[in-house]
Amino acid sequence: MPTKFAVLGSGGWGTAIAALLAQNSEHSVKLWSAHPENAAQLNAARENTRLLPGIKLPDSLQITDNPADAVADADCWVSAIPTAYLRQALAPFASFRTIDAPVVSLTKGLEIATFRRPSEIIRETLKTENIAVLSGPSHAEEVARGMPTSLVVAAHDGGLASWVQHRFVTDRFRVYTNGDLVGVELAGALKNVIGIAAGVCDGLGFGDNAKAALLTRGLVEMTRFGVAHGAEPATFTGLAGTGDLITTCFSPHGRNRRVGYRLGRGESLADVLAGPQVAEGVLTSKSVSERASRSGIEAPIMTGVYEVLHNGKPPLAAVQDLMTRSPKH
Ligand code: 13P
Repeated sequence: MPTKFAVLGSGGWGTAIAALLAQNSEHSVKLWSAHPENAAQLNAARENTRLLPGIKLPDSLQITDNPADAVADADCWVSAIPTAYLRQALAPFASFRTIDAPVVSLTKGLEIATFRRPSEIIRETLKTENIAVLSGPSHAEEVARGMPTSLVVAAHDGGLASWVQHRFVTDRFRVYTNGDLVGVELAGALKNVIGIAAGVCDGLGFGDNAKAALLTRGLVEMTRFGVAHGAEPATFTGLAGTGDLITTCFSPHGRNRRVGYRLGRGESLADVLAGPQVAEGVLTSKSVSERASRSGIEAPIMTGVYEVLHNGKPPLAAVQDLMTRSPKH
């Protein structure tokens, strides 16, 4: 079915999804960049040289820095803007909602001051309930290179999830549906925090035993935290939970794991965070640890990550506290 897409956000993931959608000749796709210089670079080079070097963008993909142009006549909006900028970046788009086009959220984080999930920020800024969340193990560079990838799309409305599934699926990009939007979205945010812990573990030079324990206990923590906020436990054993946790904790090019790795090697947070890519888990750890301590949810690993990132706790001391904490269950 011919579909017009507006992809908002030209980071690695926004660029890769826009390119994927544009490969379907029935689709017309516009990619919006918040920064005129980035839009100009993408148009000139037909390549996201900063974040997806070596990958040519389809000729049919249109690139703009003009919000009105990006969403004009779009049947589907795709939001790929990092959580910290999402509310502010979407605000100018509210007046262009002439039809209630579905919005597919790709963002995996939590708003630091409000604990809002990305879909809640979209609902508040664009005044729509027509929202789906696409999540799962999906490094942008692999999707952009056509490597097999499986994800899950979640929406409160099963018809919307199925509609999105059929628009996004390709023979290299498999999309499952799920009714647990809260769980899918929380799993995507929380795995980033465990991904930082996995990087710390690697940076400190620990082995497979430590990493396996970290992933297993991290998943327990993610599930406990999610269920306390209305998620289904089964979601955390699926692609959005276990699947994305594996990708994030093992990938050498994962942004969150790399933050933890460099901290584990003794670099300062300021040095580690200088660079174009956003590691969502850094801010998510703050929201989660505050919420966990306020609500009495046991989350020692995610709280330990927060302590290392934001309170200057030495990584080795955080590990020591985890290994010796009581009770041992
Ligand atoms: P990382 O870059 O931290 O691995 O996160 C990417 C992601 O969410 C892949 O699904």
